[in-house]
Amino acid sequence: MLERTQVGIVGAGPAGLVLSHLLARRGIDSIVIEDRSREYVEKRIRAGVLEDPTVELLVEVGLGERMLRERMVHRGIELLFDGEGHRIDMAELTGGRTITIYGQHELVKDLIAARLDAGGVVHFEVADVSVSGFDAHPVIHYSRAGEPVDMRCDFIVGADGSHGVCRPSLPHGALRTYERDYPFAWLGILAEAPPSSDELIYSSHENGFALHSMRSPAITRLYLQVAPDEVIENWPDDRIWAELQTRLARKDGWTLTDGPVLEKGITPMRSFVAEPMQYGRMYLAGDAAHIVPPTGAKGLNLAVADVAVLAQALGEWYATGREDLLAGYTQTCLRRVWRVQHFSWWMTSMLHRLRGEDAFDRQLQLSQLRYVATSRAAATSLAENYVGLPLRTDTAGARPSS
Ligand code: FAD
Ligand code: DHB
Repeated sequence: MLERTQVGIVGAGPAGLVLSHLLARRGIDSIVIEDRSREYVEKRIRAGVLEDPTVELLVEVGLGERMLRERMVHRGIELLFDGEGHRIDMAELTGGRTITIYGQHELVKDLIAARLDAGGVVHFEVADVSVSGFDAHPVIHYSRAGEPVDMRCDFIVGADGSHGVCRPSLPHGALRTYERDYPFAWLGILAEAPPSSDELIYSSHENGFALHSMRSPAITRLYLQVAPDEVIENWPDDRIWAELQTRLARKDGWTLTDGPVLEKGITPMRSFVAEPMQYGRMYLAGDAAHIVPPTGAKGLNLAVADVAVLAQALGEWYATGREDLLAGYTQTCLRRVWRVQHFSWWMTSMLHRLRGEDAFDRQLQLSQLRYVATSRAAATSLAENYVGLPLRTDTAGARPSS
């Protein structure tokens, strides 16, 4: 079967779905294909922190209605070390900017509903996806309900995450890659327990890093630093709670409220950047092009930032034939990507116990934590990166959705 669209998008994650929506606002046709089921992507528990610029963009383009009703707005975070909490008042340090707690799967639900309501096309449970013709005549090959399909398009966008097919399809040597592996992973749980604090707590403990986050007034999200090759079978719920109690304990007697564990999993930590983020008529966006360790809460936000740039560049190309924005896509995105890479690496290095770390290294970490906790200049630097630096693209010219 033959199919035709202007922009063929592989992957119905935040990058692919937001892009499809932004393009539709500019009158550009797209089709999104996704190898998982709609139910699976709508239940996949991942990120929870949206930066201020991400929220602004989603609201501006009409994707924020339920989020604004159901989100939790946080004005600060806490750093916990030596058994004492130190609040970073991000709103005060950044002229009133805040972060939003809203589960990625909730956002994905909103994005899918918005696309389908507007008559957009998202094909779930496709198989055998491959891409070709990057130079002149891009085609996405896949099968749907057992039938092979060739989707011809003007552009392919690889928004298929870190294990997708688009990036690996490029010729050998087309990309330069930058990587850093970390000698640890995160064990994350979702628990039916009210949050034990109003804000996120990032803890640097002798046993390793721990993070207290949340999804709602009734649901807590918690993470523990574990060995990179750790298996979940080694972590029965009792052990997880005991370790969380230890790493989040404080001298003032505060305790963590526990409850039934609804979900648990282990995520490896990696920094990765592919350059360029385009090849011929194929563009990479989000995790398909770069991965950050989760300590800075940036992956989803970076995916949205990429597609904001790409939608504008494609919009100008279709509207006026202008090519410079598309040609500059990599350069525009990588400026933000490297800022975020640095911030995520810095937060990760400051808060985790590192293999081979000696007493000197630990004292450096603690000194850095004390500096951030007590210096307005250092705290402001953390705060402005955490709430998110402004998006460099202008979406104001986009046509309102019909
Ligand atoms: P994805 O969400 O991975 O979407 C890619 C889509 O492509 C998927 O639906 C996938 O099924 C599909 N796909 C893959 N291969 C194919 C194929 N061959 N054909 C068709 N479809 C395909 N980020 C934050 O900003 N804040 C946080 O607090 C945060 N916390 C995190 C916590 C955890 C435990 C994890 C794992 C990640 C976290 N992240 C966080 C990162 C964030 O979840 C990702 O960066 C984000 O999902 C990237 O979006 P994306 O659309 O680029 O990729
Ligand atoms: C969450 C995830 C993160 O990676 C982070 O830094 C903060 C919060 C979360 O899932 O809530």
